[in-house]
Amino acid sequence: MLGSLILLWISFCLLLFLFRTQRPKNFPPGPRPVPVFGNLLQLNLKNPLDDLKKLAERYGKVFSLYIGSRPAVVVSGVQAMKEALVTRSVEFAGRPQGLMINDITNNKGVVMVNYGSYWKEQRRFALMMLRNFGMGKQSMEERILGEISHIISHLEKNAGKTTDPQTLFHKAASNIICSVLFGTRYEHDDEFLKLIIRIFTENSKMANGPWSMAYDSLPWLRGFPLPFRKAFQNMETMKKFTADLVAQHQKTRIPGDPRDFVDSYLDELEKRGDDGSSFSERQLVYFLLDLHFAGTDTTSNGLLTAFLYLTTHPDVQERCQREIDVVLGEKEQASYEDRHRMPYVQAMIHEVQRVADTVPLSVFHATTKDTQLMGYDIPKGTLIIPNLSSVLNEESQWKFPHDFNPENFLNQQGEFVKPEAFMPFSAGPRMCLGEGLARMELFLVLVTLLRRFQFVWPEDGGVPDYTLVFGITQTPKPYRMGIRLRGTQRG
Ligand code: HEM
Ligand SMILES: *[C@@H]1O[C@H](CO)[C@@H](O)[C@H](O)[C@H]1NC(C)=O
Repeated sequence: MLGSLILLWISFCLLLFLFRTQRPKNFPPGPRPVPVFGNLLQLNLKNPLDDLKKLAERYGKVFSLYIGSRPAVVVSGVQAMKEALVTRSVEFAGRPQGLMINDITNNKGVVMVNYGSYWKEQRRFALMMLRNFGMGKQSMEERILGEISHIISHLEKNAGKTTDPQTLFHKAASNIICSVLFGTRYEHDDEFLKLIIRIFTENSKMANGPWSMAYDSLPWLRGFPLPFRKAFQNMETMKKFTADLVAQHQKTRIPGDPRDFVDSYLDELEKRGDDGSSFSERQLVYFLLDLHFAGTDTTSNGLLTAFLYLTTHPDVQERCQREIDVVLGEKEQASYEDRHRMPYVQAMIHEVQRVADTVPLSVFHATTKDTQLMGYDIPKGTLIIPNLSSVLNEESQWKFPHDFNPENFLNQQGEFVKPEAFMPFSAGPRMCLGEGLARMELFLVLVTLLRRFQFVWPEDGGVPDYTLVFGITQTPKPYRMGIRLRGTQRG
C-alpha cells in the first residue's frame, strides 16, 4: 500500500517535471508557473487587478505570466508601451489565436483577426467609411445629433427628478452605431434593443471572466456544457439578427447610392466580384457585429463616467457650461468643429476618458515574429497584454495622476494639450478604429446636454463611489443623477 502510494507520488512528480513550463531564454521575468494551470491559481480570477499590480511592482514594466500553458507578457508604462506598439509596431500588431473570443468570432470581422492582408484590407475599408467617404447623404454628425434629440426628450421628461443614466447612454451609443451601420435606430423601449444591450453586457463581462480563462487554458473543458456556452448562444442570436438586416439591405439598396455602411460594403463587394479578396457577405456579418460591439459599451461607459464626475464636481460642470454658452451663443446646434474653441471642455472630456480607463488591458495583442522589448527576447506568437491603465495613471506622466482634474490637459496659458500618455484608444497600427466616431460622440453629446441641463448629485445619493467594475470594458458603479433645466439657453 505504502509502496504504491510512493510510486504514485514519484510518477506525479515526474509528470510535473516533464510538463513543467519553461520560460524561453532572456524572456521577461515573472512568477513560477505550475503545469497545466500556469499562474492562474495564483490570481483572484474575479478581479485579478490587485494580484497583477503586486506582480507588476515586483517584476517591473515588462513581466511575464502563464495563462495555462500559454506564456503572456504584460507591458506597463508609457515607455515600454511606445516601444512595443509604436516603434516595433508590426512586430506587436498580431492577435492571439485559439482563445474563446477567436472561436466566438470565427477568425472573421476585424477586432480578433490576426495581422495580415485580410485584416489590413477590412480595416482600411472601415476607416475610409467612418471618415465619411461613401457613407451616403447623411453625415456622421447628423446621425449623432439625431440620436441626441432622443436623449434630450427623455431627460426633459425627467426634469426635476432623478434618473439612472446607465441604460439611457447604452441605448444611445448602440443607436448611433446602428444608424451608421444599418441606417436604423430603435426606440428606447424596443424589446430588441434591450436584447442587444443585454447580450453585449453579458458577453463583455464573460469574455475576461473566470469561465473564459478556463476555456482558454484548459482546452479539454471546451466540449462540456459549462457557462461559457452562453457566450456562443448570444453570438448566434446576434448573427442571425445581423444577417437579417443585411438581407433586407440586399432587397432595398440602390447600387452606387449607399445609405449606410452595409450598402457601401455591398457596393464594394459587387465591385470586387470574385477577386479572392477578404470581402464577403459572411465577413460583413462578423464585421458589423465587431463594430457594433466595440462601439457600444465603450462609448456609453465614457458618458457614464462623465456624468458621475460632472455631478460630483459642480465647479468643473459650471466652467464647461460658461465656455459652451460663450462659444455657441445663439447657434442652433453644436458642431464638432466648435471643439477648437473650447479648450476647457476638451480638457474635461479627455480627463473623463483618462479616469474612465474604459479598456484597461486593451485588446490582447500577439507578436508576429521573434522580437525584443526593453532588452528582453520575446518569441513569435507570444500573447501581449498592453496595460493601458498603467499608462493613464502613471505617476511620472500626469500633473494630477490620482485626481479628476481637467488641468491634466491644460498648459499655463489655459490651452488644450494632449500628453503622450493619453492612450485610452491604445496606439500603433491596431489603435481603436472607432476613435474618430467615439470622440465626435462624446463631444456632441456632452456639449449639447450641458448646454441644456444642469446635472446634480441627488441629496440621497450617498457618498459617490468611483470604483470601476472590472471587465474587458470597465463600468462605473450604478448611480442616479438629478436633472434640472437650465434657464435661458437655446439648443
Ligand atoms: C470611448 C470609446 C472607445 C474606446 C475607449 C475604445 C478603445 C479601444 C481600444 C483600447 C482598442 C484596442 C486597440 C489595440 O488592440 O491596441 C480598440 C479597438 C477597436 N475599436 Fe475601439 N474604443 C472606443 C470606441 C469605439 C467605437 C465607437 C468603435 C466603432 C466604430 C470602435 C471600434 C474598434 C475596433 C473595430 C477595434 C479593433 C481594431 C483592430 O483590431 O484593428 N471603438 N478600441
Ligand atoms: C495595470 O496597471 C494598473 C495600474 O498601475 C494596475 O492596478 C494593474 O494591476 C495592472 N494590471 C496588470 C495586468 O499588470
